[in-house]
Amino acid sequence: MKKVLILDGSTRKNGNTSYLVQHFMDGAKEHTDLIEHILVKDLNIKYCNGCLRCNLIKRCAIRNDDWEELSTKILATDVLVFASPIYFHHVTAPLKNIIDRFRSFIHVQITETGLKHTPWHTWNKDFVLLLSMGSSDDIDAKPVIELFEFMKDILGDGNHLHTIKGTRLAITRQIQKSEIELQELYPKLKLPEKLAKLDFEKNKKLLNECFKLGENLSSI
Ligand SMILES: Cc1cc2nc3c(=O)[nH]c(=O)nc-3n(C[C@H](O)[C@H](O)[C@H](O)COP(=O)(O)O)c2cc1C
Repeated sequence: MKKVLILDGSTRKNGNTSYLVQHFMDGAKEHTDLIEHILVKDLNIKYCNGCLRCNLIKRCAIRNDDWEELSTKILATDVLVFASPIYFHHVTAPLKNIIDRFRSFIHVQITETGLKHTPWHTWNKDFVLLLSMGSSDDIDAKPVIELFEFMKDILGDGNHLHTIKGTRLAITRQIQKSEIELQELYPKLKLPEKLAKLDFEKNKKLLNECFKLGENLSSI
């Protein structure tokens, strides 16, 4: 059975991101029971302090927080999901904090032209990005997608990245609202009412995409 680990950067309950995550998990449950969903804001993870000792000791030197246990889970999983609302064109701070600690998975060497990254472990994982944003234009997610393209590449040739982006999702639970609820909401957001029908269909399709991706990636 495939292992699925979800690192959820949500900061509010019942947000749009949690619906993306829930549908992904529902799909994954079709094939596996080995699913763990972690709300990263609830973990005790210290900031990377830049000591760079990981370049020598092949693990993070920071002790007495939840990273050691989390990093063991990250290394053991087959499917690694990062879920986040877009905050200022990036992931939320709790998730960024985790990403910085990924430095301890890699040996980094300065070269004449840039940096050479060599992972300490073999990574053959499916990376998944589930993103929710207020903007109607998914360009706001570009920096995050570029970062994860880079991360999955430096961590190993066998990694793949799958991305799902939900746009025009400003209000909590908006993704789950009925067409009538959206029709009532859109004038308050100064959005054309005619978009409500389109968005109701778009949101349904998006949640179905999450389900399908969870189902596909968890099957052997
Ligand atoms: C601090 C903050 C910064 C945000 N920055 C952006 C942004 O740069 N681009 C964007 O499209 N939406 C932005 N948003 C809107 C959220 O990404 C959007 O409402 C998202 O659907 C929230 O997800 P949630 O419902 O899971 O909390 C921001 C929201 C907050 C609170």
